[in-house]
Amino acid sequence: MSFNVSVLKKDFPLLSREENGEPLIYLDSAATSQKPQKVLDVIDSYYREINANVHRGAYRLAEQATTAMEEAREKVSSFIKSDRSEEIIFTKNATESMNLVARSWGESNLNEGDVVLVSSLEHHANIVPWHQLAESRGIEVRWIPLTESGLFDLTDLDRLLDGVKLVAVSGASNVLGTVPPVRMLADAAHNVGALCLVDASQYVPHRPTDLAELGCDFLAFTGHKMCGPTGIGVLWGRSELLESMPAFLGGGEMILDVTKEGFTTNTIPWKFEAGTPPIAEIVGLGAAVDYLESVGMENVLDHEKTLTSYALQTLSDRFGNDLIIHGPNDVSVRGGVLSMCYQDVHPHDVSQILDSHGVCVRAGHHCAKPLMKLLDVNATVRASLYLYNDESDVDALADALEATGQFFSP
Ligand SMILES: Cc1ncc(COP(=O)(O)O)c(C=O)c1O
Repeated sequence: MSFNVSVLKKDFPLLSREENGEPLIYLDSAATSQKPQKVLDVIDSYYREINANVHRGAYRLAEQATTAMEEAREKVSSFIKSDRSEEIIFTKNATESMNLVARSWGESNLNEGDVVLVSSLEHHANIVPWHQLAESRGIEVRWIPLTESGLFDLTDLDRLLDGVKLVAVSGASNVLGTVPPVRMLADAAHNVGALCLVDASQYVPHRPTDLAELGCDFLAFTGHKMCGPTGIGVLWGRSELLESMPAFLGGGEMILDVTKEGFTTNTIPWKFEAGTPPIAEIVGLGAAVDYLESVGMENVLDHEKTLTSYALQTLSDRFGNDLIIHGPNDVSVRGGVLSMCYQDVHPHDVSQILDSHGVCVRAGHHCAKPLMKLLDVNATVRASLYLYNDESDVDALADALEATGQFFSP
């Protein structure tokens, strides 16, 4: 273990909550992470001490709020190793970030017959915006198949890339944990003149992010899965692309001038930030970045790898063929998301029994219905690990699963 989880757990007030007299076991961080006290404090003191609207106030308080917001942009920028903070666009969430690319870049660059290549394990947020473009512009949405173990099957990549204008793939799957070879896909996209968008919602919170290593053109992620508040997401894009793209939403903040005849747009990033931004959430995201950096993202990654290995081993030792864990076994190509089917018990029943033992997991299609169809299931039980989980959480999951088996045994 590269850091002391029992100490770190104390940073997260909600993790001291009890369920039925037992400590809460939170294994649903792929849905949303818990928040450290430092993030809560920063949001609280933002409202208590410097709350004012940003960018247009000519008084000290408004300047302080503006500075806090723009400092958070700098923090997010350096967290993903961007050297230009104007390339960081604040959105509502990852979903909005990908819709921004589809609506702004897609509507002005894609035409009938152009192809957007996605993978078969994508979240709906990286599917539906392209389906919408298929309806509005006649583009084709094409699918990278998966291998039996849930990796990208790239044997036919040359054919898959024919006519492609955008490769839009997940940096890490929210269902299988799979971490695809993004750099290789970005290079392959560029070789055929296409761009590459990475849905990094499950990537940025869990491992060091280096844009130069990823080699993509757009990166979308969401604050609430990385110890930050809800209501704040990020789109990073190459400045030359962002500059050439039309504004997404219109209104205040995003203009330089407005007349009765028309308007001119602001420079990036504000061109894409219409209206009053979620200032407290942005400042809170900056605090989340500070927190994760204080732990160290290399440490987070090492810890999650060790814990994922432990979970895969423990669950397979204890349940054998009674428990199917979808996705790759090799922790060098997967994150700590464990999607499971237990005997023939419905995932919702499993999660209800786990809940009665204080174990929070998610049951359902995880907003990845095409993947569910491929796996030939309607739903799975998903346990997801984060920096504040340890072996005792995995053991509690295994014990509660055993109790589930006993509950449903004839
Ligand atoms: C891989 C992936 N992409 C996108 C999203 C959407 O995130 P948000 O709902 O914050 O926009 C999620 C959230 O579950 C996700 O796991």
